[in-house]
Amino acid sequence: MVFKRGQILGPLLQTGKLRDEAFGRFWIECTAPQPEAEAATPPQKTSADLIPPVLAHASGTVLDIGPGTGTQMPLLRSPAIKAIFGAEPCLGLHADLRACAEKEGLSDKYNILPCSVVASELLPALAKEGVIPAGTDSVDQLAGKEVFDSIICVRVLCSVPNPEKTIRELYSMLKPGGKMLVTEHVVNPWRTTKGSILARFMQGLYQLLGWSWFVGDCCLTRDTESMLKKAADADGGWEIFNLESSFGRSPLSYISGVLIKKSA
Ligand SMILES: C[S@@+](CC[C@H](N)C(=O)[O-])C[C@H]1O[C@@H](n2cnc3c(N)ncnc32)[C@H](O)[C@@H]1O
Repeated sequence: MVFKRGQILGPLLQTGKLRDEAFGRFWIECTAPQPEAEAATPPQKTSADLIPPVLAHASGTVLDIGPGTGTQMPLLRSPAIKAIFGAEPCLGLHADLRACAEKEGLSDKYNILPCSVVASELLPALAKEGVIPAGTDSVDQLAGKEVFDSIICVRVLCSVPNPEKTIRELYSMLKPGGKMLVTEHVVNPWRTTKGSILARFMQGLYQLLGWSWFVGDCCLTRDTESMLKKAADADGGWEIFNLESSFGRSPLSYISGVLIKKSA
């Protein structure tokens, strides 16, 4: 679009927009249905296999962070889910996301928020939907009237800005007893028997070669598990903190599981 509008200096003056559009197109390609491969060997386990058992816990009012094109939407058809708010800042993905909600029969439940998950954007978007009072400009104002029963974090905490603060704010918006549903790639746990020093080295190398710049601000080396754990420190920790490590030989090593906030 930057080129189509004939802005000859667009690529130099609007690099943010250009990267946003490029990422949108890249992600639509990545998530397009693939032709069935011939079944000579049994399919290997992939990160996608980690997601269904985690999202099976979604219920009530749900915040879906960075839903992309809605790849996970078929997993969100449970009648236990009352409403879903998908915070997706890449506007180029909204048409696919909307089409996906229609296809899955979730148009009435799925609300697309054109914003990042950072509080300064998310709170006004939620207020506009009538989910929180107008004029709420800090998550602290939601104490005692938290909003979400479930927050879905699938392959997105690698990209959010200021992750420690953002995760703490997300935690604050979770109701007592609410669930954080996590499937995220993280820094390789190379110091443990589950990790690999070579994979950790490759993560560093990819970062140096510009991974974050090319892949929508994605960072390969975030210690998301520590940040999630820390988010509940003020409440004396989570009721349940259950994260499994997977793919420890790969630069895309994962954590996945369900975290439950203490009941009041
Ligand atoms: C790797 S894709 C994952 C999409 C989807 N969760 C999935 O697993 O198929 C990352 C998504 O997070 C979105 N994203 C990036 N930064 C974000 C932010 N600050 N707040 C919310 N979403 C963000 C991107 O636009 C993109 O749709």
